[in-house]
Amino acid sequence: QKGGFSTFMDKEIHDQPTAVADTLRGRIDEHGKLKLDEGLIADSVLNSIDKIVVIACGTAAYAGLVARYAIEHWTRIPVEVELAHEFRYRDPVVNVRTLVVALSQSGETMDTIMALRHAQQQGAPVIAIVNAQGSTIARESDAVLYTRAGPEIAVASTKAFLAQITAAYLLGIYLAELRGNKFPDEIRTLLAQLDEMPGKIQRVLDSAEPVRELARSLVDEGSVLFLGRHVGYPVALEGALKLKEIAYIHAEGFAAGELKHGPIALIDEGQPVFIILPSPRGRESLHSKVISNVQEVRARGARTFVIAEEGDTEAAEHAEQVFYVPASPVLMSPLLTVVPLQIFAHELASAKGLDVDQPRNLAKSVTVE
Ligand code: F6R
Repeated sequence: QKGGFSTFMDKEIHDQPTAVADTLRGRIDEHGKLKLDEGLIADSVLNSIDKIVVIACGTAAYAGLVARYAIEHWTRIPVEVELAHEFRYRDPVVNVRTLVVALSQSGETMDTIMALRHAQQQGAPVIAIVNAQGSTIARESDAVLYTRAGPEIAVASTKAFLAQITAAYLLGIYLAELRGNKFPDEIRTLLAQLDEMPGKIQRVLDSAEPVRELARSLVDEGSVLFLGRHVGYPVALEGALKLKEIAYIHAEGFAAGELKHGPIALIDEGQPVFIILPSPRGRESLHSKVISNVQEVRARGARTFVIAEEGDTEAAEHAEQVFYVPASPVLMSPLLTVVPLQIFAHELASAKGLDVDQPRNLAKSVTVE
């Protein structure tokens, strides 16, 4: 069942190229139209929405945060991402012109179900991006776009996260096409970029041994920090969540720009810090700003572990160690940069002799509010 891997989580991390490829396969028809798996939200409705609200919890919410950067950029529709349990009790502004996206692996997360019902009561159309076929969220939504990650057994979500980002991107590309924000050749380029991701994820998996070595050397650590900016920010949050969940190590993810507003006070001699470095080919200023963050924490004694793009020659000058991922367009990069962080958490928890697939106090789906 584990396909030769020591844990389901390790297997599922290695399933990720397939999970992304399967989620993409056959999704866009010859007219550039997204094929939903179930239900329908009329194009006239999608054309009239003026806001998208993603409701989700935990890792799924981080996938939503990643998708926000892409969907807003491609469609120019404002996107909010909200923890489902906060959304519902806030008297949120949601109406017939709000497209609500319920993002969930299990489709049974009670917080997300309750938020979805609340949104529907306000008249909002709801599309589910869900992994589990026929689950409550899939059944109760107006339309469903399934992530095709296959069953996820390990409590800590990995392949579902990548598949959720992929499916949300497809929705964004579809809306951009429908609403005329992108020319057909731009749509084709985006789809081609997505198609290249499974192969690149595989390359990250094939070169992960140095991350494992680092994890084994840090088993006695009490705290690890993660910094990222732009799409790297939710990746930092996800890297920290994985480590908390399965290795029981205190971990925090921060927006790198927020460092100087407080968190830098945490940096002490020997503090391990992961930094997700934006591509130097993207907005140059972003790369140099995060390089400055690496220098700032290093100058205060931090041990700096940087995730950078292949060919980024500057990264190594400032880091104790660099883990390279293949070059990709900025918005595609989270599908790569999160993988070393998943592997890091898995290896560290394994080295501590913990039950990686069944971490204490957690259940695979949270069916109570
Ligand atoms: C983290 C994790 C959880 C889930 C969250 C939502 O590894 O698995 O944070 O992401 O409980 O679950 P779903 O996606 O089933 O709604």
